[in-house]
Amino acid sequence: MTIRPQPRPGVLDIQAYVPGKSSAPGVAKIFKLSSNETPLGPSPKAIAAYKSVAGHLEGYPDGAATKLREAIGRAFGLDPARIVCGAGSDDLLNLLARAYLADGDEAIHTTHGFLVYPIATLGAGAKPVVAAEKNHTADVDAILSAVTERTRIVFLANPNNPTGTYLPIKEVERLQAAMPSEVLLVLDAAYAEYVEKNDYAAGAELVSCCENVVMLRTFSKIHGLASLRLGWAYAPPAVVAALNRVRGPFNVNAAALAAGRAAIADKGHMAAAAAHNSHWLPWVSERIDGIGLEAIPSVGNFVLVRFPGDRCSAAADAYLSARGFILRAVGAYGLPDCLRLTIGTEAANRGVIEALAAFMKDFGHGR
Ligand SMILES: Cc1ncc(COP(=O)(O)O)c(C=O)c1O
Repeated sequence: MTIRPQPRPGVLDIQAYVPGKSSAPGVAKIFKLSSNETPLGPSPKAIAAYKSVAGHLEGYPDGAATKLREAIGRAFGLDPARIVCGAGSDDLLNLLARAYLADGDEAIHTTHGFLVYPIATLGAGAKPVVAAEKNHTADVDAILSAVTERTRIVFLANPNNPTGTYLPIKEVERLQAAMPSEVLLVLDAAYAEYVEKNDYAAGAELVSCCENVVMLRTFSKIHGLASLRLGWAYAPPAVVAALNRVRGPFNVNAAALAAGRAAIADKGHMAAAAAHNSHWLPWVSERIDGIGLEAIPSVGNFVLVRFPGDRCSAAADAYLSARGFILRAVGAYGLPDCLRLTIGTEAANRGVIEALAAFMKDFGHGR
């Protein structure tokens, strides 16, 4: 037998992340509703800033992301010294795992938590521990009872992807208050800008007052810059110091830095994207319920749709794809009877609801 180099324990246990589909063979007009991207695209100012970088590709970017951190600091009223930028929040999730998890440690995430959490955990040689959800929603008591002496990180997506549910900030505070102070609470607020609930907060205040809380944000969703890979962490100084040691020295490229600065300054574009979502999220959710399917109540820019069984959701996936509507199958999240639907343009939203209604009529007759 040939002896080969072996990856560290845990790496081969990772189920590689499978992104949402983006094409359907033989279908001319596609509505991609599988990756929670914004139907409005990025701010025109961000596109212009991106293009302006093209003449200077020979130079390294500013490895400290100084101007972008200052722009984020201004926009959110935060200290730029406590901000670390990454190549998407995925980068920051992996860096946190690398910095805070060692072999045999444990990191908690909830049943239907974002899949990058177990991937980052296993990649760091640690063990993912699943805390049960209640009604597709994170449950603080279940998370607390999953904490052991080996726990080093709790990953909490708030709102969660793919369920779209959220925890009120009071519940997050209750979680933090009851957690051991040496366990890091990672509040992943990728969809924060879409949430319109008075009892929600992304967690910046908690970061400001607690040594063991980090908030993650992304430019991939409401800012429409997913292809550039840009996210940021707001963290206590000790966590910033750790992240700055393990991150790549130029982990964010110059185009992302420039586009991100322009995007965060364009409040009008963000407001338009949020307004589009506030109109269409309830419209889509109500119609899904009206068709006789279950829309899990969502505060994000997507809805988890529950079908009567795995066969039905697989058939719906095929039926919709053949008509150009690409949704996200979420079997890998333990939700084989569901599909996740991103809020799209008006044409996409109306079209997908019409197609879903037609499918349910056909499927109902065909059963
Ligand atoms: C909850 C959550 N966190 C993080 C991310 C990753 O975002 P990014 O594109 O910034 O890596 C996503 C993207 O789908 C997400 O849903």
